Amino acid sequence: MTCDIVCGGFWGDEGKGKIISYLVNKRRARVVAKGGVGPNAGHTIVIKDKEYKLRMIPSGIGGSHVDKLLIGPGVLVNPDIFLKELEMTETEGISYLDPQCGIITPKHIEIDTTDKHLTQIVGTSGAGTGPANQDRIRRVLNLARDVDELKPYLLDVPHEVNKTIDNNYPVLIEGTQATHLSLFHGTYPFVTSKDVTASSICADVGIGPTKITDVVLVFKAYVTRVGEGPLPNQLSEEETRRKGWVEYGTVTGRLRRAAPFNIDLARRSIMLNGATKLALTKLDIIYPNEAGKRHFNDLETETKKWISEIEEKIGMKFHFIGTGPANVDIIDRE
Ligand code: GTP
Ligand code: IMP
Ligand code: MG
Repeated sequence: MTCDIVCGGFWGDEGKGKIISYLVNKRRARVVAKGGVGPNAGHTIVIKDKEYKLRMIPSGIGGSHVDKLLIGPGVLVNPDIFLKELEMTETEGISYLDPQCGIITPKHIEIDTTDKHLTQIVGTSGAGTGPANQDRIRRVLNLARDVDELKPYLLDVPHEVNKTIDNNYPVLIEGTQATHLSLFHGTYPFVTSKDVTASSICADVGIGPTKITDVVLVFKAYVTRVGEGPLPNQLSEEETRRKGWVEYGTVTGRLRRAAPFNIDLARRSIMLNGATKLALTKLDIIYPNEAGKRHFNDLETETKKWISEIEEKIGMKFHFIGTGPANVDIIDRE
């Protein structure tokens, strides 16, 4: 049975949510467990023309075989966002969080949106995650087990995930943020408040690295970055608009800076995550003629050449290629 983990290869917003939303049905996943920092991430997924923007509930919603959507103890939880999304996704009875998840309070959000270093130098999302992790390190942070309104939704996530794997049911582990935002491996100090490579995402949900079948690393056909920090070969806003690469952050609404696909960053990510499979999203944004295609052989010669040149340089093939926002807009070469 499989336990795959999905992580980001650039600076986030590669479309990990969409890849999870595809794989959850393909793998017939019973459990989807989320790792990563917390509600500073926003996944947008599109299922049957309906768009969902998720910051807490895992992207496995609507999965044909899913019976649990879990948030691991390494993830920070904003109770208001969790409860709102629980209602919006109608996943009460399916969605649970670990009693040891750290809790974000209005005080953390206030610091994250007013502190000069965080807002002006780092350019954080303002979700309160950095200040909450700081409190966790000081061991003064409240945990989910301390919050009365979360009591009905608490579950021992590491136990549930490991039990599911031991019982031979498929599991998906959802990473958030991305490799070059890692506190350890990213472009410090312009990074998030913890490591977010595959190994740490495993620890977030409480499974050992020996349990992983595939590490699926997600890249976008171009690179985007929100917040501060270097972005090699960054395009001007005008050029970004001309190419049609304009994107706005799911959480903050900020304009994402953009640059062409970066081979060196991709190779470093493959190494740091021990990637065994790759996904490439938004091919249709670079090549609008390819929108909605589901077979590699239907792609035009120029597009196939662009893909294979990248594959040659990074030394791995793209098993999944996104051709539209919907979870089924995908070329599957597994
Ligand atoms: P973080 O955890 O915040 O890093 O987010 P993410 O990796 O899940 O990505 P996010 O949802 O923030 O951004 C990806 C955007 O691209 C979403 O709006 C998706 O609907 C969209 N998307 C994903 N794959 C494709 C694709 O292949 N084509 C097109 N056109 N849109 C896509
Ligand atoms: P923080 O994680 O909110 O502290 O922000 C630190 C940096 O990480 C900022 O540049 C954010 O824009 C960026 N960041 C954090 N989470 C995400 C994400 O999910 N997608 C993209 N950028 C992110
Ligand atoms: Mg996002």
